[in-house]
Amino acid sequence: MGGILGLCFLTFLSFSPLGFAEKCNPEDKKVLLQIKKDFTKNNLDQLAPWIPEADCCIWDGLKCDPVTHRITSLIILSNLPNSNFTGQIPPSIGDLPYLEFLEFHKLPKLTGPIQPTIAKLTKLKWLQISWTNVSGPVPDFLAQLKNLMFLDLSFNNLSGSIPSSLSQLPNLLSLHLDRNRLTGPIPNSFGSFNKPGPDLYLSHNQLSGPIPASLANLDPTRIELSRNKLEGDASMLFRRNKTTFILDVSRNLLAFDLSKLEFPTTLVTLDLNHNQIFGSIPVGLTALDSLQRFNVSYNRLCGEIPQGGALQTFDASSYLHNKCLCGSPFPGCK
Ligand SMILES: *[C@@H]1O[C@H](CO)[C@@H](O)[C@H](O)[C@H]1NC(C)=O
Ligand SMILES: *[C@@H]1O[C@H](CO)[C@@H](O)[C@H](O)[C@H]1NC(C)=O
Ligand SMILES: *[C@@H]1O[C@H](CO)[C@@H](O)[C@H](O)[C@H]1NC(C)=O
Ligand SMILES: *[C@@H]1O[C@H](CO)[C@@H](O)[C@H](O)[C@H]1NC(C)=O
Ligand SMILES: *[C@@H]1O[C@H](CO)[C@@H](O)[C@H](O)[C@H]1NC(C)=O
Repeated sequence: MGGILGLCFLTFLSFSPLGFAEKCNPEDKKVLLQIKKDFTKNNLDQLAPWIPEADCCIWDGLKCDPVTHRITSLIILSNLPNSNFTGQIPPSIGDLPYLEFLEFHKLPKLTGPIQPTIAKLTKLKWLQISWTNVSGPVPDFLAQLKNLMFLDLSFNNLSGSIPSSLSQLPNLLSLHLDRNRLTGPIPNSFGSFNKPGPDLYLSHNQLSGPIPASLANLDPTRIELSRNKLEGDASMLFRRNKTTFILDVSRNLLAFDLSKLEFPTTLVTLDLNHNQIFGSIPVGLTALDSLQRFNVSYNRLCGEIPQGGALQTFDASSYLHNKCLCGSPFPGCK
């Protein structure tokens, strides 16, 4: 009898909205209430439901570890399109030492630098600060977050060059730095990422100089370098035995001979438009059965378009504005 009563009492406690059996770690709660204070003085609507009376493990945007009850995940995004929230990432974010997953997304008035105290969050596996107006450099300290698997800093106002130290992240699977104002070269060190290397999203920046030859060592699934000012050779990205699916280097200043190159047979997208690529379209491309997007327009290619494979499934817009391409979808060669 007493046992059953006891059990009922325990059940009551763990469901109690007043949190007598609160799981949330008190240190974490203190930090979260500080974060709320920093953010809500600037109207961040999402954090209003973070009330001190409730267990913070059930607060919006948070997750606790099921065993230790430490905060492992924090997602802050604006749920109102015209959110008036303005401000910076508060330093107290660095005092949630068990965070593995941190995301700030769609906060157009989030400004200031990528908060330096994030360097203390060494358990982070996922860091996303995207569609905000954070500015300043991509910080070097990110290389200390050795557990990072996913780093997304896309669609921000970041400037400066890409730190070469990022290649020291041994577990990185995906690197998104696209749609910022980054300048300078792709670091040479990127060839020394652990193989096969992370998917690279570096498009829509102002990156310049040659693509490092060392990238020949990598074999990521996806490489997006479009809309930069990269020049010279890109052939290190191609090789028959690579397994890349998506390769987009369009709208750069690349100039190399396409004629003799071999291509990963896994390619689904190959976009080379708006460069200064010369030579002819190699017959080997007819062997790429999975090819669904192909664009070599606005280059300096010449000669007969090889007939076969997927190459004639693309219309003339994939081949337009070259030096002297001929054969289907254009008239035959003389
Ligand atoms: C933002 O501020 C304006 C003017 O003060 C107000 O009209 C609007 O409702 C606010 N938007 C939100 C989402 O609170
Ligand atoms: C950054 O701020 C500008 C000006 O307020 C705004 O137009 C832009 O959409 C913001 N960027 C993002 C990614 O929200
Ligand atoms: C973007 O950053 C530059 C300085 O790096 C600054 O002048 C500009 O105001 C920023 N844009 C926004 C919308 O915050
Ligand atoms: C691919 O081929 C190149 C040379 O042709 C070789 O150096 C490299 O080790 C090969 N990679 C794999 C994964 O077989
Ligand atoms: C190829 O790229 C050019 C230039 O951006 C564009 O106009 C054309 O529509 C593209 N064609 C295809 C099939 O993607």
